[in-house]
Amino acid sequence: MIKQYITSHKDRFLSELFELLRIPSVSADSKYKADVRKAAEYVKEKLQEAGVDKVALVETKGHPIVFGEKIIDPSKPTILVYGHYDVQPADPLELWNTPPFEPTVRDEKIYARGACDDKGQMYMHIKAFEILMKHNLLSCNVKFMIEGEEEVGSDNLPVFVKEYRDQLKADVILISDTSLISLNQPSITVGLRGLSYMEVEVTGANRDLHSGVYGGAVANPINVLAQMITSLMDENGHVTIPGFYDSVKDLSAAEREALNKAPFDLSEYKKELGIEDVRGEKGYTTLERTGVRPTLDCNGIWGGYTGEGAKTVLPSKASAKISMRLVPDQDPNVITELFTKHFISIAPQSVKVKVIAHHGGQPAVTPTDSKAYQAAEKAFEEVWGKSPIPTRDGGSIPIVALFKKELGLDTVLMGFGLDSDALHSPNEHYGIKNFLIGIETIVAFHKHFAASKSE
Ligand code: BES
Ligand code: MN
Ligand code: MN
Repeated sequence: MIKQYITSHKDRFLSELFELLRIPSVSADSKYKADVRKAAEYVKEKLQEAGVDKVALVETKGHPIVFGEKIIDPSKPTILVYGHYDVQPADPLELWNTPPFEPTVRDEKIYARGACDDKGQMYMHIKAFEILMKHNLLSCNVKFMIEGEEEVGSDNLPVFVKEYRDQLKADVILISDTSLISLNQPSITVGLRGLSYMEVEVTGANRDLHSGVYGGAVANPINVLAQMITSLMDENGHVTIPGFYDSVKDLSAAEREALNKAPFDLSEYKKELGIEDVRGEKGYTTLERTGVRPTLDCNGIWGGYTGEGAKTVLPSKASAKISMRLVPDQDPNVITELFTKHFISIAPQSVKVKVIAHHGGQPAVTPTDSKAYQAAEKAFEEVWGKSPIPTRDGGSIPIVALFKKELGLDTVLMGFGLDSDALHSPNEHYGIKNFLIGIETIVAFHKHFAASKSE
């Protein structure tokens, strides 16, 4: 009955999603402020059409949060669905095969910025809700909280969560914003890394200099910055910041073994990325390196002359953006402080450095022994005919830890994307199969969660 409804409404589901994908809701760029709001309005309208009551845009200091709820019976369990309608910037634009905000289907995949992260995944919940309403099958109360600043660090969410504490009361948080192992092997994410994001600026002389007249005698900020960045990691892929690993929880041998049991094909991984070899912390597998080990990466670096031809210049300044992915129990505030102290301490006298902290996020682990997790397992078993494997993802969703701390709520990370969906990259895409089976699995989750709570 449900499968058939999904099949017969597939075209409409997709065209509704496409309309959302056409709105360039890039939260990082103020140029798109009006579009971000437009996307929020669209989500609100679609929630209302699906039958959610009291849907409103809640204003924040930044982009609005869409909040709505359908309370069928206060004695029934409540699912709080979280997602985000904002997207990452689309550039570099020239690397897209089709325009990022003109969704296009190729090979049964939807190509567009936000197709997977997170518009496509978030929209599955609205359609699952529509199905439950249409078939009179709604068995849980449902709340929707869809934000517009996830991709820029959710800075205004803590205030909202505090103010809306009562309205946010629920039994579980349900999020689809992570990856599956594959369409042949379902998985549920049980761990996310945290984040500490820094920007550094190195200044040499008080102005750009002729690189012949002064070169060799005055510090070149680009050379110095490059050296400083390189020194942050040793030849074994260890971060050299003193204290960086102090609160990292090591996994037991059994936990490591379980983690590495997940199907993973290293040669396929390398082939898909076009690399001859992987590189990372010595003594750990690729799954461990992304799932349970912290790391440090330069995300951007600039300075000096980058225009056409050659300009012989010794620049006055050089800058870089550096991210650190964190694991339990590293605290982003502590790591930010350790980084700042260390980075300043390694600067030679010949330059000045400035360190700025951008957003951060706590790492999170979610339980596998909860009723909600078990309901998710049952949903996968019913729809996929296979038990999902618990996995740890390398990305970050800072609100998972926030929800736990502020509301005492556990999250189920029921993601349907694939790591190969090119999130944050050109040609981001989302499989139509993933979208449709995701809707079906979410519908099944509602059923199993209600049943588990009435046991
Ligand atoms: N959905 C992603 C996080 C993600 C992707 C988790 C794939 C697991 C698998 C989310 O939108 C994201 O990109 N988060 C940011 C963090 C944020 C603070 C900017 C990230 O991980 O860089
Ligand atoms: Mn996301
Ligand atoms: Mn993202």
